[in-house]
Amino acid sequence: MKIMPNRMDRGFFAYQEEFEQKALEVLRSGWYVLGKEVSSFEENFAAYVGSKYCVGLASGLDALYLAFRALGIGTGDEVIVHANTYIASVMGITMNGATPVFVEPDECYGLDASKTEAAITDKTKAILVVHLYGQPCQMDEIGKIAKRHGLKLVEDCAQSHGAAFGGRMTGTFGDIGCFSFYPSKNLGAFGDGGAITTDDEEIAKQIRILRNYGSEKRYYNQVVGVNSRLDELQAGLLSVRLSHMEELTREKQHIAELYDKLLKPKDGLFELPERRENATHVFHQYVIRAKDKETREKLIAYLNEREIGTIIHYPIPPHLSQAYAYLGYEKGSFPITEDYADRVLSIPMYNGMTEEEQAFVIGALNAFVG
Ligand SMILES: Cc1ncc(COP(=O)(O)O)c(C=O)c1O
Repeated sequence: MKIMPNRMDRGFFAYQEEFEQKALEVLRSGWYVLGKEVSSFEENFAAYVGSKYCVGLASGLDALYLAFRALGIGTGDEVIVHANTYIASVMGITMNGATPVFVEPDECYGLDASKTEAAITDKTKAILVVHLYGQPCQMDEIGKIAKRHGLKLVEDCAQSHGAAFGGRMTGTFGDIGCFSFYPSKNLGAFGDGGAITTDDEEIAKQIRILRNYGSEKRYYNQVVGVNSRLDELQAGLLSVRLSHMEELTREKQHIAELYDKLLKPKDGLFELPERRENATHVFHQYVIRAKDKETREKLIAYLNEREIGTIIHYPIPPHLSQAYAYLGYEKGSFPITEDYADRVLSIPMYNGMTEEEQAFVIGALNAFVG
C-alpha cells in the first residue's frame, strides 16, 4: 500500500459534484477576477473566523507582505517572530524592509511567550505569531505583551484555519490575520490564494487598495500597489470547501486522536505532538519528534521502504537559509529551533485518509526499532 504524506485529490472527490458545478457556473459567468464570488467568499470567511472584514488576495505570502505594509512597518523597524517558522512568514517582514527578530519556540512550536519580552527593543513595532502545524500560539500571554508594549500583533494563520484559543478563532487576536489557501492547506483552493482578516475598517480598505495596483477606482491610482487578487474560480471553489469546513476539521482531528491513542513509540525513539491547554489544534500537520537526527533518518528510510511518505516541516530554519545569510546568524544561534529542525517529522495526515491507510502507518511506526 503506497501512502503519500498528503492526498489533495481526496479532498476534491469528496465533494466532486459541488466543485464541478461551481466551476462551470464561474466559467460560464464571463467574470473571472474580483466579482461576486470573491465578495461572497470574503463575507463567509469573515463570518467563519469571527472578524469584521476579510480581503481576498493571491497568496499567503501576499497577505503577510500587505499586512505589514498596511501597518506602516518598514525600514528601521523590527518584528518579533519565532525562529522555527516557514520562511514565508519572515519574507512578509523583510519584503517591507523591516528586520525579523527571532525568538525560540515553546514545546508546541509556537512563539515562546516567556522569551518574547526580552527581544523587544525601541525599534520593535510588531509581533508575528505563526500558529504552526494548526496549533494556536499562547495567545493570552502574547496578547498581553503586545498590549503592554504598544506593539501591533499579526497572526500567520496559513496553517490554522478553524483553530481556536480559549474558544476564539485564530485570525481574530491580532490587528491582522493572514491566511493562505494553497491547495495543501486545511482550507485549500485549487491553485494559489490568500486573505487577510481584520476588525479595522481602515486596514481592510488599505489592503483592498493595495491589492489592485493601489486603486480604489479603476485607473485612479493612489499609491504604488501590487496585483494580488483572488480570482472568481478559486473564490467559488473555496466557498464550496468552506461550507464543509466543520466536518473537514473534525475528520483531521479524529485522525490525530487515533494517532495519539494508537502510536506506541518504543524506547523513546520518537515523541507525539503536545497539545496546548485551552487551544483547539486543527492538525494541518501531525508532527512527531524523533529522538535525534540519526533516528529521524532511519525512521524516514524505514517508512520509505514500506512506501509511506513523510515530510520535514522544515529542515532549514530561516535564520540558516541562504536567503537570510545577510542577517549574520550562524549555526547555534537558536538551539531549540535548530534541534526541532533536526528532529521533526510530519507523518501522513489528510482529509479522506482511510482507516486501512492509517492502520498501515501506525503499524509501521510501532514496528520501527532504531
Ligand atoms: C506558515 C506559513 N506562512 C505563510 C505561507 C505562505 O502561503 P502561500 O504559499 O499561500 O504564499 C505558508 C504556506 O506556504 C505557511 O505555511
